[in-house]
Amino acid sequence: MQKIILVGYMGSGKSTIGSLLAKKLELPFIDLDSYIERSENKSIAEIFKQLGEIYFRKLEHKYLSELSINENSFVLSLGGGTPCYSNNHILLQCDNCQSFYLQTPTFILVKRLQIDRQNRPLIFNLSDNELTDFVAKQIFERSYFYLFAKHIIKTGGLNFNEIIAQIEEKVITT
Ligand code: S3P
Repeated sequence: MQKIILVGYMGSGKSTIGSLLAKKLELPFIDLDSYIERSENKSIAEIFKQLGEIYFRKLEHKYLSELSINENSFVLSLGGGTPCYSNNHILLQCDNCQSFYLQTPTFILVKRLQIDRQNRPLIFNLSDNELTDFVAKQIFERSYFYLFAKHIIKTGGLNFNEIIAQIEEKVITT
């Protein structure tokens, strides 16, 4: 059984890299946000708006726990906040998994999120200045949890293929 888990801040490329990696390794790909949306029949934005963030965090924990105890192999991309609530970070150290923190420089994340924030409930209503401060502060707070991942991939200056190659190398040799 092989569970590969990708973590990182919003905009770090978890979903894109996860789906390309899964194809290459011929494993199923699961994006936790999409999994929650399908299971709840609501978008993440709707869940935040109608039921609130705490409710979303409970769902996130529930579905992550479900996925982590099943016997299937997969590549799983978490949401940016997933490791930071409900002790989810402990799962990054599980025996049958390889977890990767996609560590992306803050200025790159801010640039990406400036043009792609409309479906992200935590940031959609921030100004550019507020966004920069918000991202920097959250990365400072969240790094503690992200660093529970078994491997760190510094993605700055790398393209998707190079990031995937680094992950593959670690998956094969460990
Ligand atoms: C969140 C990140 C989002 C999504 C939700 C909350 C966060 O996932 O789970 O909007 O707290 O950082 P992505 O990192 O896939 O955008």
